[in-house]
Amino acid sequence: MIQVFAHRGASGMYPENSLSAISAALEVGVHGIELDVQSCRDDYAIIHDTWLDRTTNGKGMVKNASRVELNKLDAGNGEGIPTLQDVFNLVGKQADINLELKHTYSLDKFVNYIEKNVQEGIIERSQLILSSFDHHQLAWLKQKLPWVKIGALTASIPLHYAEFAQRLHAYSIHIDKNFINHEFVQDAKQRGLKIYTYTVDKQQDIEQVLEMGVNGIFSNYPCHAKMVINKW
Ligand code: G3P
Ligand code: CA
Repeated sequence: MIQVFAHRGASGMYPENSLSAISAALEVGVHGIELDVQSCRDDYAIIHDTWLDRTTNGKGMVKNASRVELNKLDAGNGEGIPTLQDVFNLVGKQADINLELKHTYSLDKFVNYIEKNVQEGIIERSQLILSSFDHHQLAWLKQKLPWVKIGALTASIPLHYAEFAQRLHAYSIHIDKNFINHEFVQDAKQRGLKIYTYTVDKQQDIEQVLEMGVNGIFSNYPCHAKMVINKW
């Protein structure tokens, strides 16, 4: 079964990385939800950019604002910026959660945050995939959380990609749809890696990556993506 991850939630229809975008994705019955995580002054916030300006009515850098300040902003539809805890509480065990670490600091604190939610039964270990373009960060996280699935995030196919994935103990490779081909996808799958590709919205693009044999896609329109996959 091809897995659909709602990219920043159902962000084609709702504000990206918002609780409403996540709720909409859950209603569609997605396999998983991809979200961007950043450190703010006293917590972890769900927002893509380092700066507040593009997606909210606030100004300045995310890292300088507190959780309470971020929650008071309008990040679309009058919603504030959620914290990671808001996300765990909302999603619970309903779908997989792919956290893409953007500018995420104090990783010890982040690891404790994850462990606490697992121990309290709010989420399950098997639901979580951690990804980042910062592969040093991923390697560190895998040491601290050996059970966690690592999504090796990359734009194009790295040279010696099998070694790259092996060194990260990657579960999956998350790769830009514009850089993949049939041979790569098949070879990676034979090596036991899952191939998830981003960001795939148009029917033609979805069908093209399905032909290549990908395991899953990230889409801003998960409802549409699921319909295309079901008809394929
Ligand atoms: O995780 C896949 C994709 O979201 C990476 O790029 O810029 O959309 O966070 P970006
Ligand atoms: Ca992302």
